[in-house]
Amino acid sequence: MALSRSCLARMLTSLTFLLAALVSTSHAARLTAAFQQSFDSASNSVVIRAELMHRDHPDSPLAPAEGTTLAQRWEAAVNRSDNQIAARGRRLAYFQTPVKRIGGFSGEYIMSIAFGTPPQRFVGLVDTGSDLVWVQCVKCPGCTNFVQPDPFYDPTISSSDEYIGCSDKQCFEFESPPLCSTTKTCRIDYGYVDGSFVSGTLTTETITLSNTAGANPVASGFVMGCMNNNSETGFDNYDGIIGFGRGTFSLPSQFSTIAYLRVFSYCLVPFAATTTQTSSMLFGTSDPANALGLVYTPLLDIGTTNYYVNMTGISLNGEALDILPSAFQYIKSTDSGGVIFDSGNAVTRFAPEVYNALRQAVSNLTQYREVNQSNLDKYCFNITGVQTPMYPKVTLHFGGMDGSSVVDFDLGDENSFGPYSGDEGVSCLAFRKSGSEESSIGGLQQANHYIETDVEKMRMGWVTKDCTV
Ligand SMILES: *[C@@H]1O[C@H](CO)[C@@H](O)[C@H](O)[C@H]1NC(C)=O
Ligand SMILES: *[C@@H]1O[C@H](CO)[C@@H](O)[C@H](O)[C@H]1NC(C)=O
Ligand SMILES: *[C@@H]1O[C@H](CO)[C@@H](O)[C@H](O)[C@H]1NC(C)=O
Ligand SMILES: *[C@@H]1O[C@H](CO)[C@@H](O)[C@H](O)[C@H]1NC(C)=O
Ligand SMILES: *[C@@H]1O[C@H](CO)[C@@H](O)[C@H](O)[C@H]1NC(C)=O
Ligand SMILES: *[C@@H]1O[C@H](CO)[C@@H](O)[C@H](O)[C@H]1NC(C)=O
Repeated sequence: MALSRSCLARMLTSLTFLLAALVSTSHAARLTAAFQQSFDSASNSVVIRAELMHRDHPDSPLAPAEGTTLAQRWEAAVNRSDNQIAARGRRLAYFQTPVKRIGGFSGEYIMSIAFGTPPQRFVGLVDTGSDLVWVQCVKCPGCTNFVQPDPFYDPTISSSDEYIGCSDKQCFEFESPPLCSTTKTCRIDYGYVDGSFVSGTLTTETITLSNTAGANPVASGFVMGCMNNNSETGFDNYDGIIGFGRGTFSLPSQFSTIAYLRVFSYCLVPFAATTTQTSSMLFGTSDPANALGLVYTPLLDIGTTNYYVNMTGISLNGEALDILPSAFQYIKSTDSGGVIFDSGNAVTRFAPEVYNALRQAVSNLTQYREVNQSNLDKYCFNITGVQTPMYPKVTLHFGGMDGSSVVDFDLGDENSFGPYSGDEGVSCLAFRKSGSEESSIGGLQQANHYIETDVEKMRMGWVTKDCTV
């Protein structure tokens, strides 16, 4: 299915700017310089506002068939999440023995992005679990099975394309020792834990974030993958992947180094609204006055890609559950456990000990009749005929920045329960048991929170917010 022109135009026109409420003017000046001549100086804009579109949105090339119900969308989202065989580390080192593919690559959000001079536009799947930004390029003998909505990126018609040589610094940063193509360009192979892989060359290009009149931020020197071979399936219906991890080559990391856009923030609309609204994505810096009242938790220095946080516990209706702190901890010796934020995964997955405690406590507090599911991991209630279901209130706890305090992440009903058995009259606990000791906080739970990620300060902050307004 092809992405309609009107859809692309809509996505691009909505890449607009926010006024300078969040950052100081001196910063704006630095940004203007970094982003060449094209920054909107009239409005003193220092924050770039982009748009995250859920894959189910009717304008998305990944949208489900018309007439798909909310309960069916929930079910599909949970299925996608279940199919992600590991909670973290979707990037593999080269081609390790490919893991058996279970489902297609399953990010939840897409973003519009353009490379080249003049700009060539693409739709990328946002992936918080990897670091590379790539699209497929012309002369792509290995791309025949990849159904994408736009033409391949063509470096020969771009005046700003520059291949990275295999002795260049970036090539070593990507992989040491670097791979070399026959023409001495930097060859890259990139694999994902679901078994899919891409390979091609590393190149620098100009990236364009918007074509809104008078506000057309363009940054040069963006390192991206120009791919010309891919695994047989798994990437259909978008043009490439936009790595959003903590690593050097991810989109937010490169914005930080080439354009002083140090933090990124987003506010995901709740799942029910994802077919009618898009979610906002901001690149900029932290507001020193913290006008929004974010609370912060440290990002832990584990691995190079994932956003590990120090989760300490869960409460239900204000009562702390009896869970040992060790259930949330990362164990270095076995490289296991830990908790990450992962918006590319729909539903939160908890290590078995944590999940079991939560489920037991919910069971104690819920008045609705349990519905037996063939899949015992689904924990669902019959709410048929109930006007306003009453659910226990779930709060996640994290360590504060001072090393001793605790900050709360409050969840609403829309974050905690959903009809993912496929039946609107049945509501299920929107948390799943992880297949390992690792836990990840998914997009369904992050919805209706303004969430800021600051890798420079190694912290993540949030505040509860209605993201639909
Ligand atoms: C979800 O997965 C289950 C089990 O594999 C399958 O029966 C069901 O049809 C799937 N539903 C959707 C909407 O993908
Ligand atoms: C693509 O990569 C695979 C795995 O390395 C290889 O077997 C295949 O020959 C490549 N295809 C092309 C067209 O280069
Ligand atoms: C659930 O209720 C049972 C029986 O009253 C009690 O023993 C148990 O501690 C409760 N568990 C939780 C997690 O609240
Ligand atoms: C669910 O199934 C179990 C055994 O499989 C049974 O004991 C229980 O009564 C069933 N619950 C309901 C609500 O049907
Ligand atoms: C839910 O309860 C209603 C009656 O209150 C019943 O008709 C329906 O079959 C039940 N649904 C499930 C999935 O058990
Ligand atoms: C996590 O936070 C708790 C509470 O603030 C603190 O006691 C603990 O040392 C922190 N752990 C890590 C790994 O930072």
